Order: sequence, then C-alpha cells, then structure tokens
Amino acid sequence: MISAASHLLRLARAGFVFAREGVLALVDTRPLPFAPRAAIAFGRLFERRTSKDSSSRLAAALTRLGPTYVKLGQFLATRPDVVGTAIARDLEMLQDKMAPFPQAEAEAAIAAAFDKPLDAIYASFGPAVAAASIAQVHRAEIEKDGVRKPVAVKVLRPDIERRFKSDLDAFFFAARLGERLSPEARRLRLVEVVATLARSVSIEMDFRLEAAAASEMAQNTKDDPGFRVPEVDWDRTAREVLTLEWIDGTKLTDRATLTTKGFDLPALGRSVIQNFLRHALRDGFFHADMHPGNLFVDDGGRLVAVDFGIMGRLGPKERRFLAEILFGFITRDYQRTAQVHFDAGYVPRHHSVESFAQAIRAIGEPIHNRTAEDISMAKLLTLLFEVTGLFDMQTRPELLLLQKTMVVVEGVSRVLDPRLDMWTTADPVVREWIARYLGPIGKLEDAVEGAGEIGRFVAQVPSLLARAGTLMDQLDDATRNGLVLSSETVSAIGAAEARRNRWTTIALWAIAALLALIAWSIVRPV
Ligand SMILES: Nc1ncnc2c1ncn2[C@@H]1O[C@H](COP(=O)(O)OP(=O)(O)O)[C@@H](O)[C@H]1O
Ligand SMILES: [Mg+2]
Repeated sequence: MISAASHLLRLARAGFVFAREGVLALVDTRPLPFAPRAAIAFGRLFERRTSKDSSSRLAAALTRLGPTYVKLGQFLATRPDVVGTAIARDLEMLQDKMAPFPQAEAEAAIAAAFDKPLDAIYASFGPAVAAASIAQVHRAEIEKDGVRKPVAVKVLRPDIERRFKSDLDAFFFAARLGERLSPEARRLRLVEVVATLARSVSIEMDFRLEAAAASEMAQNTKDDPGFRVPEVDWDRTAREVLTLEWIDGTKLTDRATLTTKGFDLPALGRSVIQNFLRHALRDGFFHADMHPGNLFVDDGGRLVAVDFGIMGRLGPKERRFLAEILFGFITRDYQRTAQVHFDAGYVPRHHSVESFAQAIRAIGEPIHNRTAEDISMAKLLTLLFEVTGLFDMQTRPELLLLQKTMVVVEGVSRVLDPRLDMWTTADPVVREWIARYLGPIGKLEDAVEGAGEIGRFVAQVPSLLARAGTLMDQLDDATRNGLVLSSETVSAIGAAEARRNRWTTIALWAIAALLALIAWSIVRPV
C-alpha cells in the first residue's frame, strides 16, 4: 500500500513536469473519452509559457526528470510501435548530456571501489571531460615503469542504481496498472517494455561488462587495418569504474578539425559502413551505439570506437540471413533472398516462396533505379521488415537492433560523404563473406550450371541441406526445451513428409527419436 502510494507520488511528479513543460499539448485528445480529456485539459493549466517547439518540450521534460527518464526516452525512440513515429523521431534527438557530479564524489567512488586511496591507483586524476546520465569520464594518468600514460576513467554516477531502481519500480507499477485497465497497453506489452529497459540499463551499469565487450571487440578486430578500440586496463576496472587507454583523436562530430587535419572524409564514410558490416557479418558482434560522439579518428586515420554499453549479437543463422539478403539485393536475385527467409524458418511454411519473392522485388527494384546517394540500406531493411510483417514473420530482436544501428551508421557516413554509394561500399564486405562461407557451394553451382539433369540436382543439394538444417534446428530446440516435441516441430516434420520421399521422412523421425533419447538420458533423474 505504502509502495503504491510512493509510486503514485513519483508518477504524479513526472506528470506535473510533463504538464509544466507543455508535453500535454502534444497529445491528440480528440479520440479520447471524456475523463482523460478533462484531465489533460486541467493539466494544461499548469503549462509554462514557452516558445519551444514540440520536440524540445518532450526532451526538456525528460531531461528535468532525470537519468531514468532520459534512458526511457532513448529507449522508446527505438519503439515507434509503442509511441508512434512522430514522438519516436523527437525522442531520437534526446541528448544524453548532464552536468557533471562533483570531482570529490568521483574520487571517493573510485577509492571505495578499489578500497585504496586514489593516488595509489592513478598518478594524476583530472576533471570530468564528459558527463551523461549513467556515468562521467575523466582524463587521468597511470605510471608504469616510470613512464606516465594517459587513460580515460569512466565513473558510475553515485546513487544512480538506487534512483534507477525506484523509478523503474514506478514504471513497472504504471505498466501493470495500464495492462490491467487497457487492452491497448496489453497489446503493446508495456510490462515487457519496462522489463527490457530495466535489463539493458542494468547491463550498462556494470562496467566490467562494458570492459569485456571492449576487449572482445578488440580481439575480433586486431588484424583490421582501419579500426580499433581502446585497450582495457583490467587492474583499474571494477563494477563502478572503467579504465581505458586514452584515445588522442578527433571526434567524428568535429568536422572542421577533420578537414583541417586533411582526412579524406568520403573514405572515412566508407570505412564506417564497411567496418560496421564486417563486425555484424564476420564477428556477429557489433557496437549498437555508433553515433558520431562515440567515434574518433586517430592520427593514423583509423576509426576508434568508445562506449561499449550497448552491443548487438547475431548468431550464425542471422549473419547468413543478413549476408544473403544484402547479396540478394545487390545481385537482384529476389528468389534467393526469399528462399533464405524460408530456409531460416522465419516465414511460416504456409506462405509461398514465390509471393514472398514478389514482395521483396517490390522493395528491391525501385532502389536500383535511383542514384547512389538516394539509396539507403537502413531504409531497405526497414521496408523489408514491414513486408515480413505481412507474411507473419516475427522480426528477431537482434535484427531489429541491427537495423536501428544501421540507420545511425548510415547517417554518420552520409554526413561524411553525402554522395556515398551504399551498394558499392557494402559490396566487397558482403562478397568477402559469401566467398568465405558459401564459396565452395557457389563454385559447385557455377561448375554444374548447364550440365543437364545431374548438374541441376547437385546444384540443389545445398538448399536441400539448408532446409534439413532448419528442421534440425527445430529438433535441437525441442530437445533443449525438454522432451516435448512442440506442435510446430511435429507439423514441420509433417510438412517435410508432404515434400520429401518416405525414406527422408523416416530418417527424420529416427533422428528426432534419437535426439529425444539423448535428451532424456541427460535430464533423467538418477
Ligand atoms: N578512451 C577514451 N579516450 C578518450 N576519450 C574518451 C574515451 N572514452 C570516453 N571518452 C570521452 O568520454 C565521452 C563519454 O564516454 P562514453 O563511454 O561515450 O560514455 P556514455 O556512455 O556516457 O556516452 C566520450 O564521448 C568521449 O568524449
Ligand atoms: Mg557515449
């Protein structure tokens, strides 16, 4: 009861700040019933006289309400399905910048984290160079073998975890209440939205995880000539403190300096796209917050990324899916792209591959008639996901994150080179991947082309294998999730039965039985 009252109090305060900053003016009250309409009209009496436009009003309110609301805003910017496209676009402009907290508090937090006086950790410790909702960054120096080396020290805001926790509890309360009262809130699964926010924030607030992400990315990219990440100083890293090699470079936000230093901006633009695609396709591990404030160019002209709080992962299946889609659009082979969707098990089997290929052609063909600078890969993926919705295809969250990041990455590269040609830029990375992972099969297909019936049969083997792979994945899932063969699995086998000859079907059932037996022998009580 007391906690409900305190949640209501917190939410009422948020409501008041929204009203004061004029956010309520943005709500279209016409479709609403009388009670909320009256409440909003009443709330608008508190509005402060302001000349701000609508987008900055929302940002101002969220910034005033503090870090949790800023994060909520940034998070909702990626969910136009929840807040609508107009508000999502406004929220995208939300800058995560705050006044720094006092130097003494940062120093005390570091000393407490390592249980040592500050000067036993750093040889010098400067003022904050940047401050945001979760943390701030200081420039410091460490001494090693008598030599001083600059480092960047990211310190968690004191008390931030407690503040997030109570704000998030209030969000959960509101989301649950909303779901109880409104079918729309249930459809949008508000509680789950808040849970996702809570999860991503708690990952972002543990700097050991950020350090691990940086170090994983460093390992993946160690042989890449055009990209690197700062080295982690693990001895000076804890949950609340992250120490990284200091990057002496020019930020991508600082175009003037980039030009003065004589960097080739279009080449940098290509490098941003190509490196991002390489991380996604080759490594399956990408930086999911690639705005220009997180990217430097060092004096050797290499891109250096910082800020590894939000990362995306793609499994082998999603990577292949992405490569094939891009390849399909580059080569205009829509049948192939459609087949990939089916093989990956993304599109339910009752749809036809041909109609799906037709829908994809409708996206791909217009693009090939445009000039290079009008083509957007991010937009292409957005359209693709819209089409896939029509075919009952649930878009995987990791692919959505990729697409959101692609929008940002493409924006960054277009600022560097407004005439950047997305396809020729992506082409070498995608081809390299295809050649490496699908090469022998591609060559086999080439070799047998035109070699008659046998040739055609052999050329089909890879796709038959891929389809069997789908089934195996489902079987794998079924065994991992217990002994139950889910109804989808059974019907998948049923569908396979319809397509294949009897021996293949018997073989598949035998494999299913075998897997079930293995699973049983693992989980059975001893
Ligand atoms: N290794 C580094 N070298 C130099 N500056 C850094 C480094 N890491 C972070 N910074 C500076 O601090 C800012 C904030 O760090 P970042 O990790 O992006 O934190 P946040 O998650 O708050 O955005 C960066 O935009 C950059 O200016
Ligand atoms: Mg940052």
